[in-house]
Amino acid sequence: MYPINLNNFPDGFELIDDKVLFDPKKHLQLEKPNTIYSLKDLGYSEEIINDSPVDFAATSVFRILSDEGSEILLDVTRKLEKFTTSSQRIARNVRGGVYRSKFLRDLCLSDEINIFLSDIAGIDLSPHTIPHQLGHLNYNPLELEKNVDKWHVDTLMFDYVMFVTDPKKIKGGQFQYFYGTKDEMAEIKENNKQIPSDKIISPEIPGPGFAVFQQGKHVVHRATGLTSPGERITLVNGYMASDPSIEDYTKFGQLCHVDPIEILSKEFTNHTATHVRKLLEEKILDKNFQDLDLDSIKQLENASKILKSAIDQLKKGKSDMEHFGD
Ligand SMILES: [Fe+2]
Repeated sequence: MYPINLNNFPDGFELIDDKVLFDPKKHLQLEKPNTIYSLKDLGYSEEIINDSPVDFAATSVFRILSDEGSEILLDVTRKLEKFTTSSQRIARNVRGGVYRSKFLRDLCLSDEINIFLSDIAGIDLSPHTIPHQLGHLNYNPLELEKNVDKWHVDTLMFDYVMFVTDPKKIKGGQFQYFYGTKDEMAEIKENNKQIPSDKIISPEIPGPGFAVFQQGKHVVHRATGLTSPGERITLVNGYMASDPSIEDYTKFGQLCHVDPIEILSKEFTNHTATHVRKLLEEKILDKNFQDLDLDSIKQLENASKILKSAIDQLKKGKSDMEHFGD
């Protein structure tokens, strides 16, 4: 796990009155998914699979929160709704909510959920060290039929998408994922083709507190619009690999479209420093003198590459927004 300190707030964020503290014993009800899809199932090539830390792609729907946990989270997210912002892709979202709600923060950093998800993905995970990649909240657009989010892949490696509101009480507003690869989706969209209906998974979500977990970097997904007035709120929580020798996957240039640059730059700088520090500690400083060898030199090289990449991204700033359309 990576250390993460959220007690140090950027200016302009104030804690809301959550009323209830997060209690994993009362608020979680973790139940294993029945199905786990691999990158191979989705059609990814051996080359891409070997380049990924793990072959895990996505799960079927599973439960995270108890009824009580779901009720409290709904109350918290309704209180956060006044902080929504919008981007080219999403009409109404709240980011940085972990700076505003202690309940949301403790839920997103929960060890119990982290261990549970690591077991599903088959890799040690850690809640994301960029606070704006934790507890992202989507709210339905005020305009009917407008998609909550377009077809896209994520700007981080792993995340779950959980319904906060009851999906049974709304019409439309489905979370969908594509049973194919990014390249297939790009080809379909470039040539204005229809997405074959058997390639779209629209899982039935039994209630609030249920989720889908995915390697968001590779799984193309979207959320459709409401077809009649209603309330739809979902929570997306981000994770990264715990092993610092695994390459970071953060699309800083994409995040510049959704987060204030001055906050994001500091978060990304901290995230990079935390990553490199863990790498140097685990792979070099914690070793006995006798164990330092050529591999240690490679790790120095690796640290230098991570820093160089982060510096380049910070200097470059915003890149063209990536998505596959509606
Ligand atoms: Fe996403």
